[in-house]
Amino acid sequence: MSAIIMITQFFFTLVIGMYFFTKLRAERTDSRTMEENSKKEAEHLNSMRRISLSEPLTEAARPRKVNEIIGQEDGIRAIKAALCGPNPQHILIYGPPGVGKTAAARLALECAKKSDGTPFRRDAKFIETDATIMRYDERCIADPLIGSVHDPIYQGAGAYGSAGVPQPKEGAVSKAHGGVLFIDEIGELPPCQINKLLKVLEDRKVMFESAYYSESNKNIPTYIHDVFKNGIPADFRLIGATTKKPEDIPEAVRSRCVEVYFNPLSKESILKIIDGARERLNIALDDGAANLIAGYAKNGRDAVKILQTAKNIVFLDGRERITADDAAWTLNACRYTNGMYFGGDEKIIDISVIKPKEQK
Ligand SMILES: Nc1ncnc2c1ncn2[C@@H]1O[C@H](COP(=O)(O)OP(=O)(O)OP(=O)(O)O)[C@@H](O)[C@H]1O
Ligand SMILES: [Mg+2]
Repeated sequence: MSAIIMITQFFFTLVIGMYFFTKLRAERTDSRTMEENSKKEAEHLNSMRRISLSEPLTEAARPRKVNEIIGQEDGIRAIKAALCGPNPQHILIYGPPGVGKTAAARLALECAKKSDGTPFRRDAKFIETDATIMRYDERCIADPLIGSVHDPIYQGAGAYGSAGVPQPKEGAVSKAHGGVLFIDEIGELPPCQINKLLKVLEDRKVMFESAYYSESNKNIPTYIHDVFKNGIPADFRLIGATTKKPEDIPEAVRSRCVEVYFNPLSKESILKIIDGARERLNIALDDGAANLIAGYAKNGRDAVKILQTAKNIVFLDGRERITADDAAWTLNACRYTNGMYFGGDEKIIDISVIKPKEQK
């Protein structure tokens, strides 16, 4: 009898031992595989980071100082009036595409920091977002603009997930705390996001809610209790830019912002933009070429783009200087001239036959 008991005991000990041994081995293999995978991914990421193309010329041509923004003197003055000094205000910039709205917004905070009595600290942040890519989730699982709470159910088996701790994640409005939040194409923001943004502008903080939050939950860290009780600060000044008309922007947003208007650019302004870009990009350019490009470019961005293409054409030919001929060829090839110029093999160019676009 005792022999049977001993055999049974031995059998169960063996089975339990085997079970834990297999489990331990599986865990070790899992952690080794994870370690190997993570090493491989880290190497892949680092090798990707070692590769970079040259800076796009359009980036290099960007105005670096406010006075390099051409033809928008009133707009720039209005931005300074709104943002500089002791009481900065929210701003909405209207204007057609490619006339310097984004360029001006990017320079505005640095300009404001230098003004007397400014509340912006030297390290105040400029956070740039684009409303066209501001994806959000109606269940508030992810909201890169306002912020969201990662509820345990979505965190799975992570440390906070298993402990049932909801985790607040700050959005762009809090990242911009103490500085400027720039929302490009603000007219594309979904109405729900606009309402949330208005609330943040009003409260200057973001409050979070979660069905998983309980004041008495001892597992929840103190800082998370603080966030649920007092919110995350979001005191910033908003700059929105849009190509839409003022009447297409919600009145509630308009009424909280100083509205600034950027103009379509004249040929003279585009000529100055070409000249500025030529200097920043160190391009040798004939006056005739600049004149032709300014005559056909629809806006500042267009002018810089044509200049860049002409520069590449000249580079491929092993030359240095962009001539009127090169500009005409580029305009023709990119269909700016409606096929009116046919340089062909002879490279005949008669600028007078190319009718410049009508000036606004
Ligand atoms: N007024 C300007 N002065 C100087 N450069 C300009 C001006 N307008 C446009 N540019 C040139 O064109 C580029 C694009 O301009 P920017 O991105 O500011 O246009 P935008 O008005 O924001 O257009 P969009 O509405 O399409 O976003 C700038 O980086 C700059 O090189
Ligand atoms: Mg822009």
